[in-house]
Amino acid sequence: MSIEIDVLNGDASWTLAEPLLNAVWPAQEVEKLPWGHIQWAHADLRVLIDAPEGGLACHVGIYFRTAAWNGRKFQIGGIGGVSTRPDCRRRGYASIALDAAVRTLRDHEAVQFALLFCEPHNFAFYRSRGWHPFAGEIYAEQPDGKIRFEVMAPFVFDLNRRAPRLGTIDLCGLPW
Ligand SMILES: CC(C)(COP(=O)(O)OP(=O)(O)OC[C@H]1O[C@@H](n2cnc3c(N)ncnc32)[C@H](O)[C@@H]1OP(=O)(O)O)[C@@H](O)C(=O)NCCC(=O)NCCS
Repeated sequence: MSIEIDVLNGDASWTLAEPLLNAVWPAQEVEKLPWGHIQWAHADLRVLIDAPEGGLACHVGIYFRTAAWNGRKFQIGGIGGVSTRPDCRRRGYASIALDAAVRTLRDHEAVQFALLFCEPHNFAFYRSRGWHPFAGEIYAEQPDGKIRFEVMAPFVFDLNRRAPRLGTIDLCGLPW
C-alpha cells in the first residue's frame, strides 16, 4: 500500500493541520502542562499524511531559522508538532513523516543541523531515529523577552555538519 506524503506551506496548510493538533494537544490539557504558557513559532512547512480511512493521520512541522550557536550564526532546521491521530498510531506514520521532514531540511543546503524539543516519554522514539540529546543551554524569545528554554529537552540531528552536542543555542525567535 502506498502512502501519500504532502509537504505544504505552513500557513496555507494550517486549517488542515489544526483539527489534528487540537485533538492531540487539547487547549484545556495543554494549559496545565509545564510548557502550556509557551508561545510557539508557526511552522514554515508541514508534512501531512492522510489516513486511508479518511482525514489527516499525521503531522510534522518544519521550521527554518537563523539561530546562534556559541554566538555564531547558523541556519538550522526545526521539527515540531510531531503528532499522529490516536487511532492511526504504530503504523509507522510519524517515522515516515519525520524522514520526509529531515529529507526536506537536507535539501536546503544552508541548513547545518536540525533541532527538536520533546518530553521524556519520546526520548527513545527520537534516539532510535538518529537524534542525539543536546546537553547545552537553549535560549528563545517570548513576548516578555528572552528566556532560557528548559521546559522540554532538546535533541539534534546531523545534516550538513555534525550538530553540536554542547554549548549555547540561541533560537533567535520563538521556540517550536
Ligand atoms: C509520538 C507519536 C507521534 C508517534 O506516532 P506514530 O505514528 O505512532 O509513530 P510510528 O508508528 O512511526 O512509531 C511508533 C512506534 O510504533 C512502532 N511501529 C511502527 N509501525 C508499526 C507497525 N506496523 N506495527 C507495530 N508497531 C509499529 C514503531 O517501531 C515505534 O516504536 P519504537 O519507537 O519503539 O520504534 C504519537 O504517539 C503521538 O502523536 N503522540 C502524542 C504527541 C506527541 O507526544 N508527539 C511528539 C512530540 S515531540
